[in-house]
Amino acid sequence: MTSNELRKKYIEFFVKKGHKQISGASLIPENDPTVLFTTAGMHPLVPYLMGAQEHPMGRRLTDYQKCIRTGDIDSVGDPHHLTFFEMLGNWSLGDYFKKEMIAYSYEFLTKELGIDPSKLSVTVFEGDSEVERDNEAAAAWESNGIPKERIFFMSREDNWWGPAGSTGPCGPDSEMFIDTGRPKCSDDCKPGCSCGKYFEIWNDVFMQYNKTADGKFEKLSRPCIDTGMGIERTVAILSGKKSVYEIDTFTTIIKKINELSGKTYGEDEKTDISIRIIADHVRTSVFILGDQNGIAPSNIGQGYILRRLIRRAVRHAKKIGIENVCFLNEIANVVIELYKEPYPELEQNKDFVFKNLEEEGNKFLETLVKGEKEFEKLLPNLLKGNSKTIPGRIAFKLYDTYEFPLELTVELARENGLSVDENGFNEAFKKHQETSRTATAGVFKGGLMDHSEKTTALHTATHLLHAALAKVLKTSVKQLGSNITAERLRFDFNHDAPLTPDELKQVEDMVNEQIKRDLPVTIDVMTLEKAKQSGAIADFEAKYGEEVKVYTIGDFSKEVCGGPHVTHLGDMGHFKIVKEQSSSRGVRRIKAILE
Ligand code: ALA
Repeated sequence: MTSNELRKKYIEFFVKKGHKQISGASLIPENDPTVLFTTAGMHPLVPYLMGAQEHPMGRRLTDYQKCIRTGDIDSVGDPHHLTFFEMLGNWSLGDYFKKEMIAYSYEFLTKELGIDPSKLSVTVFEGDSEVERDNEAAAAWESNGIPKERIFFMSREDNWWGPAGSTGPCGPDSEMFIDTGRPKCSDDCKPGCSCGKYFEIWNDVFMQYNKTADGKFEKLSRPCIDTGMGIERTVAILSGKKSVYEIDTFTTIIKKINELSGKTYGEDEKTDISIRIIADHVRTSVFILGDQNGIAPSNIGQGYILRRLIRRAVRHAKKIGIENVCFLNEIANVVIELYKEPYPELEQNKDFVFKNLEEEGNKFLETLVKGEKEFEKLLPNLLKGNSKTIPGRIAFKLYDTYEFPLELTVELARENGLSVDENGFNEAFKKHQETSRTATAGVFKGGLMDHSEKTTALHTATHLLHAALAKVLKTSVKQLGSNITAERLRFDFNHDAPLTPDELKQVEDMVNEQIKRDLPVTIDVMTLEKAKQSGAIADFEAKYGEEVKVYTIGDFSKEVCGGPHVTHLGDMGHFKIVKEQSSSRGVRRIKAILE
């Protein structure tokens, strides 16, 4: 079984069961400042799971979704952890529920994937003071043929999913495991045990609650289904591999790394760790850079995670004897070739991917050489001391003078049996920040709007800005990236020259004029082709025939978009551009606020 085969099988199965295939979303959530990356297939569907709106494609949906989870980034290197993975999912938005979903799950696993039913174990929620024991799910499994002894009732810790951020839809779940046939590690060994006997492959979530900001669980207006199957894990188990790094895609990536380093994966554990880190980190970096909202390395947010991934890959490449940073692009090319069919944006954004990997890689290699030299100079003294802890001020000096990131000092320290006083580092860092803080920080003074209203208003302001830019610059302006926090919007677009002060003022005035006119914002649902015919801006990936939402702002702007937006412009506040700069060649970046 290959990743492509599984992806296809899953989607086909659910389409056959009356689901519409929707496009997976960007890895960089546009309007949700609570998370850095899309972490699950349900993420872009939150408003629909909440029952706040109907999805334009209906109540039965399926897709494959790019996901990044960075919580375990330091565990990458072992045979199981990945930062990027693909998730297959299907949803019922107030249509079918538990019984039907469990029957679909059983059918897909045993008939389509041919898994021996005797190897399947499942877990269900045992209940607690707030939510009842899930006898219904257990009964459904039993009626499909899973005997009682392979249905495990477990606690909220194991059998509850969500919310994805701090608030939102959540509920009890039922997880499916394959028994690898290995012996139990102890009498208590059961699904969820980390010994490797049981391998989780799918999760059916019974979305019934909304967790509110004050920690309460409110019943959703209608129960929904949300499921998630990780492609890499499932392919591994179906093809009899012990590790996700042995599946078809990773085998191809690792073959390239073997070639570049002259090493062979599987011969030496230390080398294998480095090879896995390089394979994982370059793959993830390619997906971040090549995303439809792709971003470049930077010192904050997603850009910082990307920077860390690239830097760590460079360091491990150097460790296994790859010195030339061109290696990044050679591996990136393999990744793009492997994934360009399901993710055509990778091919479209290839130049951006290569350019940034090369620049960041080169820059870091210089830093690395200098920083490592400095570290080696310090090492004899550090090893002589009794404390085995590198003082925070030394770690900070490496950071401040050589741009040597703390996590690399920690990693180098660990390799030499030392630790780093991270609190001391943070103190030194804070002190430094306080003395160099500029007066420009904290532009948003806070108004009457709450956090989510602010981001919604900034999202609408982004549409106004987009339309105003096109009118002032008298060209079609293509959106190349958008990012919204509660404080500001950021908009990247194609344009060859810096905007003149006059152009910037015209854009600002034009946006404020529309706000003054208090234009209404309306939504229509239509196919992407219709939307384009109607003149809507559609810098948006969707499949042929897919229904999309078109947001119209009076007579001023029309754009395909997932929302949400304000309903009329009047209360948005005053629009102000705070920065206009180059983002990369041919790309300008505007940051703006509402005050
Ligand atoms: N949202 C669920 C998960 O990520 C399906 O496991």
